[in-house]
Parts: sequence; C-alpha cells; structure tokens
Amino acid sequence: MCGSPLFATYDLAGVREDIEKNEFPTGVNSQWRYAQLLPVKSPSCIISLGEGWTPLILSRRLGKHLGLRMLRIKDESQNPTTSFKDRGLCVAVSKHYELGSKAFALPSAGNAAVSASAYAAAAGLKSYIFMPHDTPFGFFSQCELFGAVTTRVEGTISDAGAEMNTQNGDWTDLSTTKEPYRIEGKKTLGFEISEQTGWSVPDAIVCPTGGGTAIIGIWKAFDELEGIGLIGSERPKMFAAQSGGCAPIVRAIEKGTDNIEHWMNGETEALGLRVPNPFAGRLILQAIRQSGGDAVAVAEQDIQPTRRMASKLEGLDIGPEAAVGICGLSNLVDLGKIDYDEDVVMLNTGSGARYIDIR
Ligand SMILES: Cc1ncc(COP(=O)(O)O)c(C=O)c1O
Repeated sequence: MCGSPLFATYDLAGVREDIEKNEFPTGVNSQWRYAQLLPVKSPSCIISLGEGWTPLILSRRLGKHLGLRMLRIKDESQNPTTSFKDRGLCVAVSKHYELGSKAFALPSAGNAAVSASAYAAAAGLKSYIFMPHDTPFGFFSQCELFGAVTTRVEGTISDAGAEMNTQNGDWTDLSTTKEPYRIEGKKTLGFEISEQTGWSVPDAIVCPTGGGTAIIGIWKAFDELEGIGLIGSERPKMFAAQSGGCAPIVRAIEKGTDNIEHWMNGETEALGLRVPNPFAGRLILQAIRQSGGDAVAVAEQDIQPTRRMASKLEGLDIGPEAAVGICGLSNLVDLGKIDYDEDVVMLNTGSGARYIDIR
C-alpha cells in the first residue's frame, strides 16, 4: 500500500489514431460512448444500467436569479439510481467483475451505497455496505432491496470505513479514491460536459465536494481530451462547495496548505459532503489551484431554503448536496469570483428523494 490514490492511464496516442478513423465517440447513449478511455477490456463485462449521458440543461430561471448570464445544470439525478455515483460504481464493479471479484464492500454516506448495491446485484455479486447510523432509512432499504448486507456505524463515513476494515472480509474494497476505477467512471462527467458544449470547456464548474471524485475525475478528463486532440490547453476554473459544518477542503485552501487536516465533529444535512478527511485531499487541492478556482463554504441554515428555491425555479429534483453547490455559486458571484458573463456549469449531483425519512 502506497497510501495514495492510484490512477489508470491509457495509450492516448493510440486512442487519438483510433478516433480519427472511427469517429469518437460512438453514439452509445451512456457513459460507455467513451469506452476507449475506460478500463474495462471485455464488452461482456460491462455491467450497464444506462448510466451517464445525462442532460446539460440550460437554466431558464436559476441562473438569472443568481446574477449569471448563462448557467447550465448537469442533471445527475437522471442516472439509474438517481445520483452521479452510478458513473464510478458502474466502472468499478464492471472492472472488478472482469478481474474476478466475487464481493464488494464500501463505507458510504448513502448514494454510493445504493449505487454499489445496484451494480453488484446486476453483476450477480454480493455487496456489504457500512453507513453512518443517522443515514436516512431510504438509503438502507434500497440497498437491502438490491440484496446488500448493510451495517449501521456510529459516527461519520470515516468511522464506517474503520469498522469495515476491522471486519477484514473477503471482498473488494470500493472506498472513494482508494479504489482506482471509480474515478475513471466519474471522469466521464468531464467528457460529457465538453462534448455537450461542442468539445469546449465552460469558464467554471461548481462541484459539491466530499471525497472529491467529481473534481479529480473531471480534471483528469480534460487532460485526456487534450491528449487525444479534442480540446486544447483551455481549462475551466474548478470550484468546490462544502457546508460550513464540514469544510476541510475550504480550510486547506484558505490556509494555503497541501494537506487536509481532519475536520473534527463534522456535521451537515448534506450527508454526501460529510467527509472529514478525504483520502485524495492533495489531488483535490491540486486541481482547484491549477485551475485558478477556489473552495467555498456555505451556511448550514441556507441549504434547505436554497434547495426549495432552486427546485421550484427549475423543476428539477435538487438534492441537499447540490443545494450546497448552488449556495456556494451564489456566494462566489457575490464575492466577484465568478462574473455575470462567465459560462458556468453546476452539478446537480443527485436527487433528494431518499432523504425523506419514512420510518
Ligand atoms: C449527491 C452527492 N453529491 C456530492 C457528493 C460528494 O461526492 P464526492 O465524495 O465525490 O466529492 C456525494 C457523496 O456521497 C453525493 O451523494
């Protein structure tokens, strides 16, 4: 164990030659249109439920409300299990299925757990899920519906991960950024944003950020697109949005450090963002800094009102994590870090439907 994330690499010159002959991408209406830049070798091992190729929706009203000329929303709630986690877990489960795994385990704040359970079920494999005790019931019941074995753990996702490690099961560990193929799936977000804007890049991308797979994946995607000649050296500014109740990345950016300090007693209702010490912290900070972006914290009490306001303005199912992104975007506009004229993409990373506690 090197203690750092591993990255998959590709023969970009080979892919470049290939796409010149065969018209990349292929026209498949899922993230697998980019199969040449994904790690699964045998098409029969691709466990697809139709993930990715989600719409990039031109905001009719929210952008104007926030003081922006052009805001587009990448609506990840339209993925098979209603969050962007499907991208990464689809690729990870498919690749490990190809490599012969028989079971998976992961600690999760909720959405990744549902996604892993669904893809493991589709592959006919077992899944073991460890979630914080206060994760809403809907997440547990959906995992169980897909046949997962679930465990409730006191504390945050970090504690859930620690509990999982004590069990030392005979499974493949799918933990965020400790497993290399989830990032590969997440990077298709960057491919799609670029393709959907005519193989260009927007001026700014706002990512609600916990473990950081979206920021890291999107950043990697643009390098690969440049490597195969579909874009040049232009890059968007990458912005991470976090709740003030758990904002280790914002604190590291403000302090100018390269390491993330563990955020003690992290609390936020945007549960996917309650990640006190992201494993790939250095890579998140690197992408933000290299891009000329920033990290922004939002007030916890603004999350629900923003969620309601944005859902009502756009007719979209905006989850609490995405509401943090929208609050963050609003703060960035107020601070003059994003201008009226800039072309901004905001990720609606997932639906909020499972947050309704029906016990
Ligand atoms: C809906 C949603 N948005 C954002 C995040 C944060 O994603 P990441 O950990 O990749 O930064 C999560 C993580 O659980 C999530 O479920």
